[in-house]
Amino acid sequence: MAHAPIFSAHAGRRALVGGLLLASALLAGCRQDMHDTPRYEALEQSDFFADKRAMRPIPEGAVARGMLLDDDVFYTGKQDGELITGLPAQVTLDAALIDRGQNRFNIYCAPCHSQLGDGNGTVVQRGYKRPSSFHDPRLRDAAIGYFYDVITNGFGQMPDYRAQIAPQDRWAIASYIRALQLSQGATVEDVPAEQRGALDGRAPSAAPDASHGGGAAHD
Ligand code: HEC
Repeated sequence: MAHAPIFSAHAGRRALVGGLLLASALLAGCRQDMHDTPRYEALEQSDFFADKRAMRPIPEGAVARGMLLDDDVFYTGKQDGELITGLPAQVTLDAALIDRGQNRFNIYCAPCHSQLGDGNGTVVQRGYKRPSSFHDPRLRDAAIGYFYDVITNGFGQMPDYRAQIAPQDRWAIASYIRALQLSQGATVEDVPAEQRGALDGRAPSAAPDASHGGGAAHD
């Protein structure tokens, strides 16, 4: 009789181990099912549809998620077909926008337009068509929407940068071009009065030679 408890303890342990084994076998079975979920792979044949295509044609007018570009001003730079002359409402003109524009401009535009925007980038120096300078009066007077439009749709021999540059960054670049245009035509009056002293202080090292061209702004 003294052995009975020991026997039943063994039996209990065996039942527990058996139960665990059974449970893990069942779980593994489930897992396998989820691996093999019946579904079509892309471009697979289907016997369900008459045209045998598992991939169904996209209904006319369907819009991919995030692609409902329903804001003309922001996405085309035009309002009622006219190029806009100020930034769209959702773009804020601040130092961060100009910094971002400078960064993107120097990557995407400067190889041809040069960092100054005068159209003498390294690609042009090696034979690509020379674009007009952004400091040309015609482009100084162009609406900011024009620069957005050219980045989006290209212009003559210049390819478009629609795929590479997101709309927000196109506006940043367009804003930076405005800053570039100002920088190349600025006068001392454009510098806040309290900072003009610092400008004069730096003039000698920046332009040691009085005959150096383009130094007129320091007068
Ligand atoms: C591969 C060289 C190249 C790159 C990179 C390039 N451009 Fe151009 N761009 C040109 C050329 C060349 C023209 C003139 C095309 C023509 O007249 O056929 C031009 C024209 C333009 C014009 C129109 C000027 C006018 O005369 O009305 C604008 C604005 C402009 N580019 C902006 C940009 C901006 C902004 C970027 C960067 C996002 C950029 N470009 C990148 C080569 C380039």
